[in-house]
Amino acid sequence: MAKSRSSFVCQNCGAASSRWAGKCDSCGEWNTLVVENTGSGIAAGPAARGGRRGSAVALIPLSGEIAEAPRIACGIAEFDRVLGGGFVTGSAILVGGDPGIGKSTLLMQAAAALAKAGHGVVYVSGEEAVAQVRLRARRLGAADAPVDLAAETNVENILATLEAGRPPALVIADSVQTLWTEQADSAPGTVTQVRASAQAMIRYAKKTGSAVVLVGHVTKDGQIAGPRVVEHMVDAVLYFEGDGGHHFRILRTVKNRFGPTDEIGVFEMSDAGLREVANPSELFLGGHEGRQAAAPGAAVFAAMEGTRPLLVEIQALVAPTSLGTPRRAAVGADSARLAMILAVLEARCGVRLGQHDVYLNVAGGYRISEPAADLAVAAALVSSLTGKPLPGDAVLFGEISLSGALRPVAHANLRQKEAEKLGFRRAWRPAATAEAGKTALAVQGFGELADMVAALAGGQT
Ligand code: TYD
Ligand code: MG
Repeated sequence: MAKSRSSFVCQNCGAASSRWAGKCDSCGEWNTLVVENTGSGIAAGPAARGGRRGSAVALIPLSGEIAEAPRIACGIAEFDRVLGGGFVTGSAILVGGDPGIGKSTLLMQAAAALAKAGHGVVYVSGEEAVAQVRLRARRLGAADAPVDLAAETNVENILATLEAGRPPALVIADSVQTLWTEQADSAPGTVTQVRASAQAMIRYAKKTGSAVVLVGHVTKDGQIAGPRVVEHMVDAVLYFEGDGGHHFRILRTVKNRFGPTDEIGVFEMSDAGLREVANPSELFLGGHEGRQAAAPGAAVFAAMEGTRPLLVEIQALVAPTSLGTPRRAAVGADSARLAMILAVLEARCGVRLGQHDVYLNVAGGYRISEPAADLAVAAALVSSLTGKPLPGDAVLFGEISLSGALRPVAHANLRQKEAEKLGFRRAWRPAATAEAGKTALAVQGFGELADMVAALAGGQT
């Protein structure tokens, strides 16, 4: 038996160090180091016990038959698509998100849908009592679904319960941070416990072919281990995101061994649970689709989320500053990217913004992550500065380079098609484009950002 040894483990990233420090050297988070016994825990690994020599395994060639991973679709189309077509049997999925964002709600809805379709589903709640889970199910209109419930946090008990019956198609453990196993001797919620418990649940999935969903809370204060520490062990990592002030939620794939990693599912939180939003553009346009009149400072960006086009409204406010240093604030967009666009507007297009505060907002709480939004951002800024609105029926996309040239972006055809579908009639985009698909939109191509600024300021819209 190895000697029990303590070390300080960061609850955010899992890095271990021999001394306590206020700040984790590895991830830079403050106050996340907690003392844990790792020497005799699961982290010590079998090697610490010494002894057994390995036995040889048969090596097989790389080429050969591939069996398509069997999947079970839960019937919630947005969820299934994000997973790549349903839950892969025998896989482990981590669903992370802020507390209160709707993880338990989403999984209860998926559980109910699967159970109603005749699959075995076990829902283990470590956070809520059975009565609370039942109450939520009633609210979701899922109270009659044959889901098996348990309120339990001990992994050995959970596994014994599962092994007593036939392996269910889906096991949900809500949440992984409440699970604890006798294999590890740290307190529940610490990295060692969360890892060891997750490992045991994942082993069960691989052994029996049940799909296992682990719910993980994203934590800011570092008192309990974040879902990050189990990301590498699971087959798929989904994050459920949303904005406290808005009622829609986005389910995003971060990792998926069995499917695409750039899909999103869009949901709306209603008083009867999460509702799928099949056409998210309507949501992010705020009812402005095919707008006739537009306000100065608003531009519609044709975005891509994975394989899906999405229209979002970008709003800018440029106002003379009363401060020594003008303010630049961006909500839903990268502020470094905003600074770059402002610099290009100043240097290449003669748009002087040095004496102006600049505020940028992406409607609906959406986050833009593509450089393709540059053109729409620049247009919104110039429109707000000059007070001249953009044409209400135009969508914009294109990347701005530091030289002031507009660069083509991928999926121009898909972006244009989505705009057509929602009643837009014009597209402003880079003149150079990789795709030359047909479109019913009147396309205005710009070679340089300065051309777009001239078109907008000259009012020839
Ligand atoms: P929950 O699924 O418990 O969040 P998590 O498991 O991620 O912590 O969701 C909690 C929030 O969702 C809570 O603020 C209430 C709200 N909610 C609704 O608005 N409608 C509903 O039908 C349900 C079940 C919850
Ligand atoms: Mg919950």
